[in-house]
Amino acid sequence: MSVRNLIDLNQLSLEELDEIVDMACRISKHPEHYASACRDKLMATLFYEPSTRTQMSFQSAMLRVGGKIIGFDNPGGTSVAKGESLKDTVTVLSGYTDILTIRHPLEGAAMAASLYSHVPVINAGDGGHLHPTQTLTDIVTLRNVVGRMDHLVIGMCGDLANGRTVHSLCRSMSRYGGNSFVFISTETLAMPKYIKEYVTAMGCEYTEVRTLEEAMPYLDVLYMTRIQRERFETPAEYEAQKGVYVLDAAKMALGKPDLCVLHPLPRVDEIAYEVDDDPRAWYFRQTLYGMYGRMALIIRMISEHESRTPTVRTASPGFTCHNPKCITRFEPYLPPLTVDTPSGCVCAYCERGQAE
Ligand code: CP
Repeated sequence: MSVRNLIDLNQLSLEELDEIVDMACRISKHPEHYASACRDKLMATLFYEPSTRTQMSFQSAMLRVGGKIIGFDNPGGTSVAKGESLKDTVTVLSGYTDILTIRHPLEGAAMAASLYSHVPVINAGDGGHLHPTQTLTDIVTLRNVVGRMDHLVIGMCGDLANGRTVHSLCRSMSRYGGNSFVFISTETLAMPKYIKEYVTAMGCEYTEVRTLEEAMPYLDVLYMTRIQRERFETPAEYEAQKGVYVLDAAKMALGKPDLCVLHPLPRVDEIAYEVDDDPRAWYFRQTLYGMYGRMALIIRMISEHESRTPTVRTASPGFTCHNPKCITRFEPYLPPLTVDTPSGCVCAYCERGQAE
């Protein structure tokens, strides 16, 4: 079975990533040159969880490179509602199509889907784990706006515990020399230990602070995130965290003149609307870069027969993942697999499973 899946952006070498970003830049200048690049190819978008940007930018991207799309964004309207497993849905839909994108609330679901798909699988967000094409979006934006990927002070603010976008971005930006991170969150919503260990293992530094004000003057990039209500166990836990961080004009005044403010969106209340007109606010233009990035990625994954660097996963009979949000806890037929990471040997699906 093909291993040409994109579960984690770090499966790509930096050279491959650069090539895709270069292609995205070329597409943004001359989209007409790519209008037939995937003619007669069919993409399935399997969205088990709500989405505006990721779903529709994948659909726009596929249509703009000449392809076609099928899919669902409400599993309640499919046989999932009758109890169909992820394995069976993916096995069937991958028989109809040339490429799959999947978003799912459980961590490791995209990797699980890739075990049963006959065609390449793109992770469009798996629970609080990873969101590689959002990171591709962010990197295309940084290339165009900041002009470099290294020696940046990158602030990440908000729900760092549950935010898959910041997990993916942190891992990818740790691969570039000289980057450092400022994690701005409450103690409850702090960046997970396994991500911080990854950053350290890659030779990058990080600090953790509790207020935006103390970080603002030092940042080259500020990545704001929403407090993810859907990931909390109870409404009361969400209520205790919401509204703590609000980027407004007064806080923007503390930032550098060339600060780049990003947000994966959707926004709730963490960026005041008055910031939208600040030229340093790039989050809406960021969404357009995301579509060009996805066009480039789709063209590469469909048209080329290169094999990506496979992640070495080990069959581990008896291994049980302890992450309650891991796909293996809900789809019991999945084989127990582990993988070696800078944090040690962990569940290959969600990269957790060890006590934090
Ligand atoms: N950035 C992002 O993933 O947005 P959606 O949830 O709307 O797809």
